Amino acid sequence: MNRRAVRGFTDQHVPREVLERVLSAAAWSPSGSNLQPWNSYVLTGAPLAELKKLAGERVAAGDPWDEREYEMYPPALKSPYRERRAAFGKERYGELGISREDVEARQRAAAANWQCFGAPAALFCYIDRDLGPPQWADVGMYLQTVMLLLRAEGLHSCLQMAWSVYRKTVAEIVSPPDALILFCGMSIGFEDVTVGWSQRRGSHHRQPRVMSMTRAHAIAVLHLK
Ligand SMILES: Cc1cc2nc3c(=O)[nH]c(=O)nc-3n(C[C@H](O)[C@H](O)[C@H](O)COP(=O)(O)O)c2cc1C
Repeated sequence: MNRRAVRGFTDQHVPREVLERVLSAAAWSPSGSNLQPWNSYVLTGAPLAELKKLAGERVAAGDPWDEREYEMYPPALKSPYRERRAAFGKERYGELGISREDVEARQRAAAANWQCFGAPAALFCYIDRDLGPPQWADVGMYLQTVMLLLRAEGLHSCLQMAWSVYRKTVAEIVSPPDALILFCGMSIGFEDVTVGWSQRRGSHHRQPRVMSMTRAHAIAVLHLK
């Protein structure tokens, strides 16, 4: 279905019935013991415009990020993840013509996250703070299901942990119960094909899938990383 992270959207309206169709179907995603630990809030129109305005004001004021409710990455990312993150940054900012040293331009590009890259719809996915890693994995499967169903409707998306740093501003708009942690946002809309990065596909580096193969007790064990 050609899902990829799209970071440039047109302002074309995303019909409510399409979003409802996608989320109703995604509710059938698998989860351990069928806990269905995802909690989604979808914003369009005036509430999303208000969120973008408030987030934009925080960015412009150099407001510190909200204290973390979960760590996006371990503080010292080890190999091979460190190198993969560096390669992603190089590719992303390289495409935008931004050098490694140009911190201001990098910050400007990152700030597009909090404008949902121009998308007219956004989903915010929360999880109960009492749940653990297996349930966070369930939420990941759910989000992937949502993204694939969006593709089937001709829509694109970009998941955004970036929203978690302004979680209090998101909460002002969606008023989630205290028991929930914001995992991430997801920008949703029709792709703006004039935005360079979003057109590039196949350039994202992927690791070889099969790292090793052993035979134990006559059963082939594939070690997939
Ligand atoms: C949980 C999660 C959080 C992400 N957060 C962000 C984000 O905050 N901003 C962003 O631009 N991309 C974000 N991404 C998109 C990834 O950078 C992207 O999926 C990855 O580079 C692979 O590229 P592809 O999705 O186009 O295949 C996120 C992806 C995931 C799965």
